[in-house]
Amino acid sequence: MEVERVQSIASLSKQLDTIPSEYIRSENEQPAATTLHGVVLEVPVIDLDDDVSDEEMIVKQISEASKEWGIFQVVNHGIPDEVISKLQKVGRDFFELPKEEKEKIAKTAESGIEGYGTSLQKEIEGKKGWVDHLFHKIWPPSVINHNFWPKNPSSYREANEEYGQRLREVSDKLVKWLSLGIGLEEQELKVAMGGDDTIFLMKINYYPPCPRPDLALGVVAHTDMSLVTILVPNEVQGLQVFRDDHWYDVKYIPNALIIHIGDQFEILSNGEYRAVFHRTTVNKDKTRMSWPVFLEPPEEHEIGPIPKLVNEDNPPKYKTKKYKDYVYCKLNKLPQ
Ligand code: SIN
Ligand code: FE2
Repeated sequence: MEVERVQSIASLSKQLDTIPSEYIRSENEQPAATTLHGVVLEVPVIDLDDDVSDEEMIVKQISEASKEWGIFQVVNHGIPDEVISKLQKVGRDFFELPKEEKEKIAKTAESGIEGYGTSLQKEIEGKKGWVDHLFHKIWPPSVINHNFWPKNPSSYREANEEYGQRLREVSDKLVKWLSLGIGLEEQELKVAMGGDDTIFLMKINYYPPCPRPDLALGVVAHTDMSLVTILVPNEVQGLQVFRDDHWYDVKYIPNALIIHIGDQFEILSNGEYRAVFHRTTVNKDKTRMSWPVFLEPPEEHEIGPIPKLVNEDNPPKYKTKKYKDYVYCKLNKLPQ
């Protein structure tokens, strides 16, 4: 069955200056009615340049941000600007190809999460998000399926491999610092999360211009299921974070990486780190894009509060279960 893409709906809507009713959120979700306007939220920005910050300071800043906010941005992270621009360029080039080209790597009933797609999941009250996406794994080599990597543009693969390699360097450091930040040894969090079998899942979100950005949402409010998510946005504002009962815009900082604590780090840390509740809005005239990479445990790997962090006074707040069972419950809205 042919799936209707938001990108096609967007071109039609542009002429009509209206959007189909399934994209109009209920009033308690509409951005215009629920965003605290004029306030751009300064989530913590952490400078990773070792000439500026010593390691102890970085650990302190990262763990405080992960405990209080569940989200922060990092600058001077070591990934060259050109590597990020190339990643963005090839992703954008792919989404700007004719529909038939993109459909070549469309997700099918059998392909699992990977491929070009549009969310079919019934969201809140049957409403849909104004966004198309592409998912493919980028690490480790044993799980990569290049069938889901665009062949066009031809530099897509090289750009993603280069970014992936640089990203692993950053994520290794982040995980080490997050481990130290809750009183564990350097490598303990990495081991608990699945070690070298941790999966790096790339997603590209493509939010076409939307004639009614006041009424629609890109991605509906959620916490990420991942351990942690490392995201590159483009320059179009859209990420919002829920804090003190309001939705706030997160400031765009060129070349920064946005780090989201996901559900699995909240669980491993027994709630010391908290997964951030976030959503995205869309823009009237511009295409917003983002490139989150989700770090996920292998599906059979068990995640639960790390035993060292639990004692009589601080009992486990979460069950221990296989990651695949966690995902199943979350996607089917079953209790965890
Ligand atoms: C997401 O949370 O799924 C998307 C975030 C973004 O586009 O910034
Ligand atoms: Fe997310």
